[in-house]
Amino acid sequence: MARTALVTGGSRGIGAAISQALKNAGYHVAATYAGNDEAAAKFTQETGIQTYKWNAADYDASKEGIAKVEADIGPIDVVVANAGITRDAPFHKMTPAQWKEVVDTNLTGVFNTVHPIWPGMRERGFGRVVVISSINGQKGQFAQANYAATKAGDLGFVKSLAQEGAAKGITANAICPGYIATDMVMAVPEKVRDSIVSQIPTGRLGEPEEIARCVVFLASDDSGFINGSTISANGGQFFV
Ligand code: CAA
Repeated sequence: MARTALVTGGSRGIGAAISQALKNAGYHVAATYAGNDEAAAKFTQETGIQTYKWNAADYDASKEGIAKVEADIGPIDVVVANAGITRDAPFHKMTPAQWKEVVDTNLTGVFNTVHPIWPGMRERGFGRVVVISSINGQKGQFAQANYAATKAGDLGFVKSLAQEGAAKGITANAICPGYIATDMVMAVPEKVRDSIVSQIPTGRLGEPEEIARCVVFLASDDSGFINGSTISANGGQFFV
């Protein structure tokens, strides 16, 4: 029987590629989005993938939304916590609001997404948790003290869940994309972006599909011995 996958932030950027790749691999897929109704409607029209609107930063909304997905499609076997935002500023200019927004969405949002799904995975004896972290959680980044802190937090989160879920057939892993050609990276000033690309040995930005293929592998039954790992997909820009 086809498994069910939930992808947060799954209608745009890396998330859209993940949703599509999981669908192509035979999963029933639900994609969430927080605000862009137009992009979500277009995504559903083009892919046939159902979208659900809630804010990952809101625990109650996440719990309610997840219950609806499970009622509509079935128990969630694979959860991809992908939703994330940037509010870049050098630390001396970073406001408490910029810190809080990023932490609430990128880190607390991961808790909010996985926590309501976890008991069902434990009961059924199977689960795949994939968290989309970032190269900047591994190496830090100028103007991203908030974002880098959350993305580093993801790595501790999956390592802990890996230990708790192993006996129940659940794995938890993180993927650290490097700079991928999405709206988020295109929002970086062109001069800064060019300088970043010059630091990538592969000589180009990554494609969202290159991250999506990692997710499909980690979601599969075949990846059961990979648990608590971090997969870096960054064109050789940074090694851990
Ligand atoms: N390293 C060192 N110094 C840097 C720097 C860097 N990477 N970037 C900027 N600076 C310096 C500037 O040269 C400037 O120096 P001076 O004051 O001596 O001239 C100083 O820092 C401040 O620069 P600005 O006044 O231009 O700063 P600002 O307040 O206008 O902020 C910025 C600009 C937000 C830093 C902007 O340059 C920016 O967006 N940078 C990109 C940050 C980045 O890489 N974000 C990643 C987004 S993609 C992503 O997050 C996805 C992922 O997971 C990979």
